[in-house]
Amino acid sequence: MQELLAILPPGSREYEVARSLDPARLPAHVGIIMDGNGRWARRRSLPRAAGHRAGVEPVRMSVETCARLGIRSLTLYAFSAENWKRPRTEVETLWRLLHYYLGREVAHLMENNIRLRAIGRIHALPKEVRRQLEDAVAATAGNSGLILNLAINYSGRAEIVDAVNALIEEARLAGALDRLVVDEESLASRLSTAGQPDVDLLIRTSGELRISNFLLWQIAYAELYVTPTLWPDFDRLALLEAIAAYQKRDRRFGGIEAVHGAPVEQGSLIGVPGPAA
Ligand code: IPE
Ligand code: IPE
Ligand code: MG
Repeated sequence: MQELLAILPPGSREYEVARSLDPARLPAHVGIIMDGNGRWARRRSLPRAAGHRAGVEPVRMSVETCARLGIRSLTLYAFSAENWKRPRTEVETLWRLLHYYLGREVAHLMENNIRLRAIGRIHALPKEVRRQLEDAVAATAGNSGLILNLAINYSGRAEIVDAVNALIEEARLAGALDRLVVDEESLASRLSTAGQPDVDLLIRTSGELRISNFLLWQIAYAELYVTPTLWPDFDRLALLEAIAAYQKRDRRFGGIEAVHGAPVEQGSLIGVPGPAA
């Protein structure tokens, strides 16, 4: 938190909103559906690619802000398994931008102790981008600060199916297929976010009221925050306002008492939540 205040101009709106946050009740895991690049470009009579390019800066800002706040995990939805339906030129633009982002940002991730992870079926990516992504993941693997999950060629349903198949395959190899019982803990442990907390705060920009196949399992009890702001316009103040709104929510997890946004560990949503803060 102090690390964030240190870079904000005292007296600015960002500074005031950041200062109003309760550091003890930050979301442990923030997920963002970064939507609205195309509409942002259309409003300016620009090609959709210009919107995607303008969407790089809010990515950088979100990563830096979450790292400085001391948030544990940030998952950014960059490309869905369904986004292959778009024109090939647009898809290629997105790979070029990923290449550009990784080329510039890995040093920054290292400096800020951020661990990059790729979630999604990344084997389907163009070879060069995939290799660059794998190198960046490997280079940052020893970092212990923010975990940045980039969801690329990601499908929440596919992730759950892959997890189930992994459990079946392990049981088969152990000769224990006939005794296999899948439970919530074992399934969660084979997801790409294994070991990370469930999503506390899910942000979607551009006003669409849908999940679009993002982190289906991990958002079971996430607080949803949808803003009409288009992704390229999503600035630091907008992110801090989302977190401030999250801190005002009463989270009950099915009970009758508010749990006040205390970080919830993976799997602990089952049964009785921790004591009300
Ligand atoms: C989000 O912006 C970026 C990706 C899905 C890759 P869109 O490209 O979906 O923008 P809109 O929804 O068409 O405005
Ligand atoms: C969701 O946005 C995927 C990403 C942000 C990467 P879309 O723009 O693809 O979602 P729909 O098609 O509007 O549901
Ligand atoms: Mg969209």
